Amino acid sequence: MSRSSEETFGVRRLSEEWRDALQVHFATLSEEDRYLRFGSHCRSEVMHAYVAHIDFERSIVLGCFDTDAVLRGIAHLNPGPLEWELGLSVDPVCRGQGLGTRLIRRALKDARLAGAPRLMMHCLAENHALLRIVTSLGAQVVIRDGSAEGIILCASSRKEFSKDARQRASRGATAEAVKKTAP
Ligand SMILES: CC(C)(COP(=O)(O)OP(=O)(O)OC[C@H]1O[C@@H](n2cnc3c(N)ncnc32)[C@H](O)[C@@H]1OP(=O)(O)O)[C@@H](O)C(=O)NCCC(=O)NCCS
Repeated sequence: MSRSSEETFGVRRLSEEWRDALQVHFATLSEEDRYLRFGSHCRSEVMHAYVAHIDFERSIVLGCFDTDAVLRGIAHLNPGPLEWELGLSVDPVCRGQGLGTRLIRRALKDARLAGAPRLMMHCLAENHALLRIVTSLGAQVVIRDGSAEGIILCASSRKEFSKDARQRASRGATAEAVKKTAP
């Protein structure tokens, strides 16, 4: 992300009072975005219920804001005993400016600080934007059954990403090329 984008968009942890703003954010997502985010063509009511049930104490919700304090991107970290799961979305009008990358970087940092053993994201194999981001960050990517669904394992969040993975990413590795087993 460019220096100017970093100055334009700030990331902070969200609390209960942001629930309505989250609803507004999710309403900006197209049907295809919802499919990529939730893995199914979920209806508005389902998304609404998802936001209504977010536990801001147990999970970590990060928001990316523009200079007018409008919420433009969200990362939701859900803790589990073996791994934490990360869900991500960016307002369509703000894509390609590094918000997604920034949110994932911050999510990795927060997960590591909270002692998460591993951070993972489910993503569909056709989600090229997400795959681009995570491979550029050096994450290990596993494509199950050759296509339909990919699982991105963001390495051990304690160790950050390996030099080896970074080198592969810099060579422009695709999900298939980075096929690996879980750490
Ligand atoms: C995935 C998502 C969060 C990315 O947000 P973003 O703010 O655009 O991300 P960034 O700007 O940090 O990076 C996007 C990268 O993908 C690349 N990209 C975008 N569309 C692409 C495509 N169709 N094919 C390949 N790369 C693509 C961009 O060029 C950029 O890479 P670069 O920085 O090397 O140029 C956003 O597209 C989104 O909200 N999608 C819908 C929900 C979703 O898929 N969530 C993830 C599953 S939980």
